[in-house]
Amino acid sequence: MARRKKIYEGKAKDLFEGPEPGTLVQYFKDDATAFNAEKHDTIDGKGALNNILSEYFMNGLTQIGVPNHFIKRLNMREQLIRSCEIVPLEVIVRNYAAGSMSKRMGIEEGTQLPRPIVEFSYKDDALGDPLVPEEYIIALNWASQQDLDDIISLALRVNDFMSGVMYGVGIKLIDFKIEIGRVWEGDFMRLIVADEISPDSCRLWDIKTGEKLDKDVFRRDLGSLTDAYTEVARRLGVLPGNVANAPKPTIVH
Ligand code: TMP
Repeated sequence: MARRKKIYEGKAKDLFEGPEPGTLVQYFKDDATAFNAEKHDTIDGKGALNNILSEYFMNGLTQIGVPNHFIKRLNMREQLIRSCEIVPLEVIVRNYAAGSMSKRMGIEEGTQLPRPIVEFSYKDDALGDPLVPEEYIIALNWASQQDLDDIISLALRVNDFMSGVMYGVGIKLIDFKIEIGRVWEGDFMRLIVADEISPDSCRLWDIKTGEKLDKDVFRRDLGSLTDAYTEVARRLGVLPGNVANAPKPTIVH
């Protein structure tokens, strides 16, 4: 049987046609990029680790009733997901200042924020994913006020869940990014968590040592990214076998 048709090629993931209408196969690559792909490398095992970690987090969200795109994991690198229309926003939640917020505001990385902050970037590589105020989102009709309220509430539920899970294994959730998709059930539109939740899209610091266990290890050349992600998977009890030698894509039936 021929391989399924690729319908989207991303920096860290590809999407293929799914076995049934309304589904897609999400393939996790070993590619790591930073600074809008200015920095690029291939990191053995990253795809398999993110696949399994995203499965773990999305399944947890399903358990607590937070709708998301995940259906099931197919193999070491692929998962079956619900197809949805991605809202062109990166939804970022911050519990502690870090990264671009620290830079923009001059607040030291690791400073606890008085409450979680939700912010939005416009997903556009050519523009470098600029931060956008809620006013823009509504005025430019990317989302209605109601949608935005729902997106913020989803993001905060993900934050509570992820903060708790991570705290349980001695990790502080500094911040994270999610993407939101629209699915239609008849005339009714629902917003669901999409894309991935993994150490690629979160900042995770060891509570005791402050050691970084996320993509900043790659962005800032702090050591082995595979070791960092493996440590997260190990603590969560989802460490797969030999992730560096995970099989390449297979046909899904
Ligand atoms: P930032 O501090 O660089 O704005 O990043 C905020 C969070 O979003 C952090 O957890 C990393 C994540 N992130 C992505 O998932 N993709 C991106 O392209 C960027 C810039 C950040």
